[in-house]
Amino acid sequence: MTPEEFEIWGGRVVEWIGSYFREVEAHPVLARVEPGEIRRRLSRDPPLRGQSPSDLLEDFTEVILPGITHWNHPGFLAYFAISGSGPGVLAEMLAAALNVNAMVWRTSPAATELEEHVVGWMAGLLGLSSSTFGVIQDTASSSSLVALAAARHRAYPEVREEGLFGLPRGRIYTSQEAHSSVEKAGIALGLGRRGVQRIGTDADFRMDTGELEEVLDRDRRAGIRPVAIVATVGTTSTTSCDPVADLVALARSYDTWLHVDAAYAGAAALLPECAEHFKGWDEADSVVVNPHKWLFTQVDCSLLFTRHRELLRRTFSLTPEYLRTPEAEEVTQLMDYGLALGRRFRSLKLWFVIRYFGVEGIRARVREHIELARQFAGWVDEDARWLRVAPVPFSTVVFRFAPADVTGKEADELNRSIMEDVNGRGDVFLSHTRVGDRVCLRVSVGHLRTERVHMERCWEQLREAAHERLRPL
Ligand SMILES: Cc1ncc(COP(=O)(O)O)c(C=O)c1O
Repeated sequence: MTPEEFEIWGGRVVEWIGSYFREVEAHPVLARVEPGEIRRRLSRDPPLRGQSPSDLLEDFTEVILPGITHWNHPGFLAYFAISGSGPGVLAEMLAAALNVNAMVWRTSPAATELEEHVVGWMAGLLGLSSSTFGVIQDTASSSSLVALAAARHRAYPEVREEGLFGLPRGRIYTSQEAHSSVEKAGIALGLGRRGVQRIGTDADFRMDTGELEEVLDRDRRAGIRPVAIVATVGTTSTTSCDPVADLVALARSYDTWLHVDAAYAGAAALLPECAEHFKGWDEADSVVVNPHKWLFTQVDCSLLFTRHRELLRRTFSLTPEYLRTPEAEEVTQLMDYGLALGRRFRSLKLWFVIRYFGVEGIRARVREHIELARQFAGWVDEDARWLRVAPVPFSTVVFRFAPADVTGKEADELNRSIMEDVNGRGDVFLSHTRVGDRVCLRVSVGHLRTERVHMERCWEQLREAAHERLRPL
């Protein structure tokens, strides 16, 4: 593609993106396709001869777009939104054009130095200590894996050379509400799923520190080494917050690592009024926050912070001859702080987003989302047939339809059906979770353009669907 051709087709793509943003609400938020339908529409074999960009773009709109669930739709209230923004798209376009691979400093000095700079901004904004080191990973799952690998290295210094074989068992402790990525890290790090001990929670789904202490004592007596405690601020299911300051103190007294998973809720640390949920996290050994969840930055962008830069480097650094450079001692080599060698220029989009909105602009939007969620929670609370099942510290409401005479599995089915009915209408998309033993619905605000009207629509459609479903019962 010549630069001239690129300008023509690039212009058309940008126009398409503009009109897509303008008209995104014309699409059903949840894709309306059957499993396998998109593949059936794709040509069976790859083309032997090149095709024109107009054919590609036509197939993009005709074949691919119907199979898209629109995370850009302001009615996207499921999971945690990976809320992008215009400046994020612009930066992604530029990063794709530059296509640098910032594996070592010299393979693109600006990519390394911008990452260090922007991650430093974020550490300050999130209230982490100024000596915190940060690095961008693709996802929170990777960030937690990398942090826990450093924790394992601390607990078993010999593991880097010898592996875990023959060493005493080690364990990671986390709450029953923690994300599955903690267990996946346990699998990947050779601790196994049984090496991740789930701890019970209190009535507000916060880790029970008393139970944790008992388990730590029991394990110590059994010769099991504590590798790390993983606290969550903003759990996936109910957005509950573990008592980080207490867990920091426990981690210190058992000489173990404290990792904080704030993949979603970390954005709220920008707000002084949310400080109570993050109390003590500046003392944590590592912290993960995903700007691609609630900071308007395109997926993928996950910030991993640690107070143990050198330990993290020792965990992963392994430099083959071809990557040795004369300036290595003076610069940061990002490949040393994680598994991947090659890395995208992810800091560019975060830099664009922070500069475009400004810190106050970002704060205002996060605040607005929390307010929208609280209004929604208020509507749930006012209706006697609906039950809110968890506090709303951030922008997520967990609730269920609970008419007095429908219980047990029937109540679960009823809630699932209500959700499917609403999702089928195409205006909003919500997801479910299980709290205690019951299926619950979840509405999470994170999209830049979600407004009160979308929340009202969601509530109206939920009530209509509940009414329709209850009739035959
Ligand atoms: C609390 C928490 N941690 C980790 C993750 C995993 O995030 P990622 O998709 O970035 O790996 C999620 C995903 O929703 C989450 O809610």
